[in-house]
Amino acid sequence: MCGIMGYIGYRDARNILIDGLKRLEYRGYDSSGIAIFDGKKLRIARAVGKIAALESLLEKENIKGSMGIGHTRWATHGRPTENNAHPHLVNGVAVVHNGIIENYSELKNELTKKGSIFKSETDTEVISHLIGANLQNDVNLFESVLLAIKRLEGAFAIAVISEKEREYFVVAKNFSPLIIGIGEGENFVASDIPALLPYTRRVIMLSENELAKIYKDRVEIYNISGEKKTEIEIKLIDMSPAVAEKEGHKHFMHKEIFESPKVFADTMLGRIDRERGEFLSEEISLDPNKLNRIVIVACGTSYHAGLLGKYYFEQISKIPAEAEFASEFRYRNPVLKENDLAIFISQSGETADTLGALKDIKEKGIRTLAVCNVMNSSIARMADDVIYTRAGIEIGVASTKAFIAQVEVLLMLAISFASKKRILSNEHRKIFVNEFYRMPFLLKETLSTESYIKDVASRFVRSKDFIYLGRGINFPVALEGALKLKEISYIHAEGYAAGEMKHGPIALIDEDVPVLVIANRGSNLKKIISNILEAKSRGGILIGIITKGDEETRRLLDFAIEVEETDEFFQPFVNSLPLQLLAYHIADMKGTDVDQPRNLAKSVTVE
Ligand code: AGP
Repeated sequence: MCGIMGYIGYRDARNILIDGLKRLEYRGYDSSGIAIFDGKKLRIARAVGKIAALESLLEKENIKGSMGIGHTRWATHGRPTENNAHPHLVNGVAVVHNGIIENYSELKNELTKKGSIFKSETDTEVISHLIGANLQNDVNLFESVLLAIKRLEGAFAIAVISEKEREYFVVAKNFSPLIIGIGEGENFVASDIPALLPYTRRVIMLSENELAKIYKDRVEIYNISGEKKTEIEIKLIDMSPAVAEKEGHKHFMHKEIFESPKVFADTMLGRIDRERGEFLSEEISLDPNKLNRIVIVACGTSYHAGLLGKYYFEQISKIPAEAEFASEFRYRNPVLKENDLAIFISQSGETADTLGALKDIKEKGIRTLAVCNVMNSSIARMADDVIYTRAGIEIGVASTKAFIAQVEVLLMLAISFASKKRILSNEHRKIFVNEFYRMPFLLKETLSTESYIKDVASRFVRSKDFIYLGRGINFPVALEGALKLKEISYIHAEGYAAGEMKHGPIALIDEDVPVLVIANRGSNLKKIISNILEAKSRGGILIGIITKGDEETRRLLDFAIEVEETDEFFQPFVNSLPLQLLAYHIADMKGTDVDQPRNLAKSVTVE
């Protein structure tokens, strides 16, 4: 995904664009650029690398104006070079784009035959050529964009500025996010809310296939047929600009891990009736007695949350459940039946594979439920029902607090289904309610082990490979722990179901391959201990997550990180935080770019 920022008003557009792009940098950070109308013509500046590179380039250029657009890129078509960086300028029109144009090579051939000369390897440049050609035929900017987007297939959000049009610039959206910020005598556009927060909290969420003319004193919205919308809903965002600041933490990821206790408390707020022991009763009207099966669809970390959901639905609600990668699920013509429920989990609510799978399933008439963090995101809007995770803005590319909240929502949902099916004993109901209320405190306690985790991390900074083992409910936690380490430290790490180790992965173990084992007290401990001994006898260095005070297990390990004792279904919460911190500190000591790791972007809006 990429980030788009736009401004028109009375201030220096350059500073606002740079500030906005920095706040959107988590969306893509391989190159960036701006186009500003200086009163006579469009001035473009583009640079490879982070926004700081663009900023230093701009120090040497005297680009001034009060209307402009900007872009931070995550490369899909074409390498991260200056030529491929946005904006793309053709015939006095500049375009920035987030998304992917699926029919771009067809359009490129057609345009090339007509004489267009392409300067980049991007799909975006076809949009500039289409609009530029229309403008040459004396069509105004808005009509030119309208004609052009009718030719585009795929997901996109674009902002278009032209030196022939001084009063407004145009934006258009189709399945990639774009938000308009309403100011006083000035207006803004951005791919995400944090970029708008320092300037305004009044926003318009563009819907699919809508375009807007952004003037400094008004905004006009049109549908794809060019009809003007008569009523525009302006929403007030209830967020302070501080949510998008590091607030004393070295990285957003660190801040976000430490927000987990609060996120957990916020996510359950008003959703558990303590007296009656009911969960989510006001949000979900689904009758679980009629459910045949639950299919959970997601990508990456959200998929790992989905794997935990499978355990919860099967073990607590006694409903058959599967978890699937969205990118696989979509393309294998899955067999779903009338009484199946499909749950789509996504922090961003914009992940292309998850969104695509949701679209396909909806067309089949299957009931859908989204678990999303970003309000009004595409997935949240498209599903029949949505439960929000209330994790707040997550800026670190590696998902941490959002994962905790996703798992929490799935656990609440599984308990609510069990309750509605009348299979939840009073004893369990009490345990669950108690554990939910204890959890924010237990998570805080767990975070207090950070200095020990830091010591452990310092021993493994130079490791090349890592194995993570977990059983049962802690198997998905092991997968997620390994993913965190890979993403931000670039150390190769694999998560395995501990019982599978002897069927192959054990061959990898030697004194250079640390083995991290999740070994809390509980029904699986004896078996996990056998796995620890198997790894130990092959010379492996053992790091364990153990229950506080479990001296017996501690003695078998080289390093033991203690977590609070809790009901087994709640272990994923207390176990995930140390794994996130371990990955964080290893990466930080290695000196990698923790918040913006190489090759990644916060949400992947391309397939
Ligand atoms: C998480 O650390 C990852 N960066 C990534 O796997 C992410 O979880 C995945 O891309 C799904 O994103 P979503 O939750 O926004 O749909």
